[in-house]
Amino acid sequence: MADDNWKMKAFYCMNVPLLDLQAQYASLRDGLQQAIERVMVSQRFVLGDEVRELEKSIAEYCQTKHAIGCASGSDALLLALMALDVKAGDEVITTPFSFFATAAAIARLGAKPVFVDIDRQTYNLDTSRVADAITPRTKVIMPVHLYGQCAQMDQLLELVEGDGIAVVEDAAQAIGATDKGRRAGSMGKVGCFSFYPTKNLGGAGDGGILTTNDDATAHRLRRLRAHGGVTEYEHSEVGINSRLDELQAAVLNVKLPSLDSWSEDRAKKAALYSQMLQEADLSFPLIAPQVRADGRHIFHQYVIRVPGNRDALMEHLKSRGVGTKVYYPIPLHRQECFSYLGYKEGDFPESESAARETLALPVYPEMTDEQQASVVEAIRSFQR
Ligand SMILES: Cc1ncc(COP(=O)(O)O)c(C=O)c1O
Repeated sequence: MADDNWKMKAFYCMNVPLLDLQAQYASLRDGLQQAIERVMVSQRFVLGDEVRELEKSIAEYCQTKHAIGCASGSDALLLALMALDVKAGDEVITTPFSFFATAAAIARLGAKPVFVDIDRQTYNLDTSRVADAITPRTKVIMPVHLYGQCAQMDQLLELVEGDGIAVVEDAAQAIGATDKGRRAGSMGKVGCFSFYPTKNLGGAGDGGILTTNDDATAHRLRRLRAHGGVTEYEHSEVGINSRLDELQAAVLNVKLPSLDSWSEDRAKKAALYSQMLQEADLSFPLIAPQVRADGRHIFHQYVIRVPGNRDALMEHLKSRGVGTKVYYPIPLHRQECFSYLGYKEGDFPESESAARETLALPVYPEMTDEQQASVVEAIRSFQR
């Protein structure tokens, strides 16, 4: 850190929210208001020029041939599986340590989520265990690029080569992340992204997009998001209504050019946290996030691990005005709605321990050094 007087600075700046979108809005206010006005004047609200422009830009950004807008990241997952004909009796391998939507999309189609435990260091699917979970019913493997860092894609892609199994990337948290130079969403058959407002690229409401290099899949996805219509009133199959609206696309078109610098700033803040935490001489064990050397982590979240003390530290930070959150406190195999799958406590020890021990700290591009210093100082003042 540039200024080693950070502990004094921290004293004056105690309240740090988990995320603050006001500063981002202030920096783009004029452009956003003009874009919204443009849509209002056009009175075209669904799948118009703004959506087309966004689809083109996102395909370019993600280094894919196609991008297809839809109503949310959750719908993107559902549409991806629909386009791959996932149905009752099929199995989809995924991680139990993710947002609910990952497994919900599988279950929604009557298919069976098959969970494989995560890697302790990255919290992503432990790809070395996936082969053992493959059966003749496996139709898709769905890794999640959690917190903004890609899962080990090479191992998965090798595994499915020539096997009729597709890889769908849940890249909802990872737009712009890379694995050996390849962008998230460009490696599997389909990539799924969320524009939920808190994401690195967030809209002013719900939104999502799908990426693919396959022409036929892109065509099918476009049809499926509009009720499976070949034309407005002719339907070759049953799809869903999941269109991206023009207001969201207009907002996202204004924000997209800033995405890389925001993600760089997040990564810089993450590196500074890790350095400060290492130098803080803590009285309890705290493990900083591990960044793969062969990828780009966009730090959608900066997640620490605090064995034994997570909940107490969280309470302490709350009392000091620091916002934190647990992503995710209940692994998917322990959710009541998935009890029919027959999993039990202890089946995925790494996911269960991550659910008990991890904690997300505030991280956003506009966060100041002083705010970071007060977070670290608040952590340092926690005694165990
Ligand atoms: C890993 C993951 N998958 C899917 C989703 C669903 O995205 P949305 O909230 O846009 O439906 C999210 C959103 O938080 C997510 O984090």
